[in-house]
Amino acid sequence: MIATETSPNRAQPAASPVLSDIVSLPVDSWSGPLPVSVQEKATACLERGHVLLMPDLPFELAGQERELLRPDLGGGGKNISYDPRNQRLRGAEADPETLALLQDVMARYAEHSLALLRRLLPHYTDGLRQARTSYRTAEIAGRETSWRKDDTRLHVDSFPSSPTQGERILRVFSNVNPSGAGRLWRVGEPFEAVARRFMPAIGRPFAGKHRLMRALRVTKALRSDYDHYMLGLHDGMKADLGYQQSLSQGGLFEFPAGATWIVYTDQVSHAALKGQYVFEQTFHLPVAAMHDPEESPLRTLERMTARTLVDRG
Ligand SMILES: [Fe+2]
Repeated sequence: MIATETSPNRAQPAASPVLSDIVSLPVDSWSGPLPVSVQEKATACLERGHVLLMPDLPFELAGQERELLRPDLGGGGKNISYDPRNQRLRGAEADPETLALLQDVMARYAEHSLALLRRLLPHYTDGLRQARTSYRTAEIAGRETSWRKDDTRLHVDSFPSSPTQGERILRVFSNVNPSGAGRLWRVGEPFEAVARRFMPAIGRPFAGKHRLMRALRVTKALRSDYDHYMLGLHDGMKADLGYQQSLSQGGLFEFPAGATWIVYTDQVSHAALKGQYVFEQTFHLPVAAMHDPEESPLRTLERMTARTLVDRG
């Protein structure tokens, strides 16, 4: 079930906690102007922690490109990645001709998703920083992995080696499954509820820890206290099977083939349960570039801890 203009709704059983909404938007092309009303709604809903769904915005693969829809293209890895900043493709296994075609398609997804965000979220244009593009060919259901990497468990995104220093993680997804199968997600509680539940168990980082991890190259950049707490939330949620079980009855949503959706994955609790063939583009955004920075995980955690969690100097 999805929220519509007139009837906010969510997949949720009786007496379950409040779960994040899926909000449907009437966007059916990657470029061209959009009404201000749609832009304002998109920005407000996104920042409040809802998922924006565009059911009629497919990322099309045509002709020979459809041959890229095969599970072995990723060589058994979780995803193929492309960096639009240096045009580098990683994680794909195929002949040079197929790799060149794949690179073209991934570059197109990078361009399309950037164009979409510029017109849907014009407020962000100056602050938006494009990161990796990924293509996930493997079926999620049944994949064996460690609990920390298990994205079928509810979590908020935070990556051990890539600190964000408080910057947002904004992601665009498109389900391109040729069989028409949906991509099944579970969404969980709003960020503040998650933080209230898990923050008390996360210890303060010891003095010098962030510099030590940088020196040992555990992290690619200096981890902030914010990153420390976000990683604590990510791990705390995934490790707590009782918590996972307590939310296992609600929040299910299947993103249809041919749909595109946008979500702040550092804020919205999500689990990807089932599905194959999805494109994804990651963006980062400084909190100051948001319409309402108070909605950010950074500000939420700073209010909760009554501390500054990133170095603003
Ligand atoms: Fe995630």
